[in-house]
Amino acid sequence: MKLDLDKINAFSDEELKELIEYDNNIKSDFSEELRIRADKVRREHYGTDVYLRGLIEISSYCKNDCYYCGIRCSNRNADRYRLTKDEILSACENGYELGYRTFVMQGGEDPNFTDDIICDIVSTSRVRFEDCAITLSIGEKSYESYKRYYDAGANRFLLRHETADDAHYRKLHPDSMSLENRKRCLFDLKEIGYQVGSGFMVGSPYQTTDNLVSDIRFLQELEPDMIGIGPYICHKDTPFADCDNGTMERTVRMISILRLLFPYALIPSTTALGTISPVGRELGLKAGANVVMPNLTPAEYRSSYAIYEGKAYAGKEAAENRDLLVAEVEAAGYNVVTSRGDVKSEQCT
Ligand code: 5AD
Repeated sequence: MKLDLDKINAFSDEELKELIEYDNNIKSDFSEELRIRADKVRREHYGTDVYLRGLIEISSYCKNDCYYCGIRCSNRNADRYRLTKDEILSACENGYELGYRTFVMQGGEDPNFTDDIICDIVSTSRVRFEDCAITLSIGEKSYESYKRYYDAGANRFLLRHETADDAHYRKLHPDSMSLENRKRCLFDLKEIGYQVGSGFMVGSPYQTTDNLVSDIRFLQELEPDMIGIGPYICHKDTPFADCDNGTMERTVRMISILRLLFPYALIPSTTALGTISPVGRELGLKAGANVVMPNLTPAEYRSSYAIYEGKAYAGKEAAENRDLLVAEVEAAGYNVVTSRGDVKSEQCT
C-alpha cells in the first residue's frame, strides 16, 4: 500500500509505523518525497529562515542517573564544572556581539543551582539583554520553581520527554524518576506560559517503532512550540556502553514526519545529528528543521559536557564560528536570521 502523505494528520498508528519504517525497505524515492513535502511545509510557514540559539552549558553536575547519559551522577570519570553567574553573563555578552538573540541555559539537574541563583541569573540577563529570549533547560522542577523562573524573565523551557512509553521509560531511567512527573513538568510549563520544547532520542536502547508512534501521540497531546530530536549516541561510561547508536537516516526521517504533523514547530537540526555524520545537520535542515543551536559555553569547559561520545563542539558547532555556520546554512539553501525567532503560532498543530 502506498501511504498518502496528504492524509498524514489522520494516519492510524499502523500507518505512522509503516511510514517510520519505510527506511527499512529500499524505497528511496518515497523517502525523498517525504523530505520534499516537509521542506515545502517548512517554507510555507517559515520561508528559508533558520534561527540561531546560543547554547550555554551551565553545569555538568547532575543528581540524576539516566542510563544513557554521560553526565549521570554515577559516572565517576565525568569532568564536573559549574559556571558562575559572571561566566554565564559574559557568555551571553559574547553571544550578543556575535548576533545571537536567544540564549539557552542548559545543564544537568545541579542542586547547587538553587532557585534563588537561577532567578538572579535570569533576571539580570533579562535586563541586560532585553531584546533576547531566555530559554532554560535545567530539568524537572516544581510548578512553583518554574513559575519563579518565568516571573524572573525566562521565556522558554526545553525538557525532552525522552520516551512517552512507560515500559521503555523504565528501561532508560532509574526508579527515582518517572514519566508521569516528566509529563507533569511539561504541562506545568505550558500552563505558566512558557514556549515549551520537548522531544526524544531516536534509536535509544530498546526503542521500538511503536515507541516512536507513542512519542508522536504524546507530542500531539502536548502541542509543544519546539521539538528537539537527535540520534542516541552511546557513551562508554554508562550501562548502555555496548548498545548501538541511532541512525542519521531515521532521525532525518522523523524530522520530516514531525514537520508535516507540526507545521509551526521550531525544530532544531541538533548537535547529535551533526555528530553522527558530517552532513547530518545539513540534511536535518533540508528535511524540515529550522533551528541551529551552536555552543556558546566558555571554550575551556566545552569538552566536559560530554553527554555522549564524541559530542561536537568545535568548528561549525562553535558559536564564535558564526561565518562557518552561515555558510553551511546557505549552502543548504536557507538563511540565518538574527532575531529571537519566536514560534509563529501559539500552537503548532
Ligand atoms: N545520546 C544522544 N542524546 C543524549 N541525550 C542525553 N544522553 C544522550 C545520548 N547518549 C539527550 C537527551 C537530553 C538532551 C539534553 O540530550 O535527550 O534531553
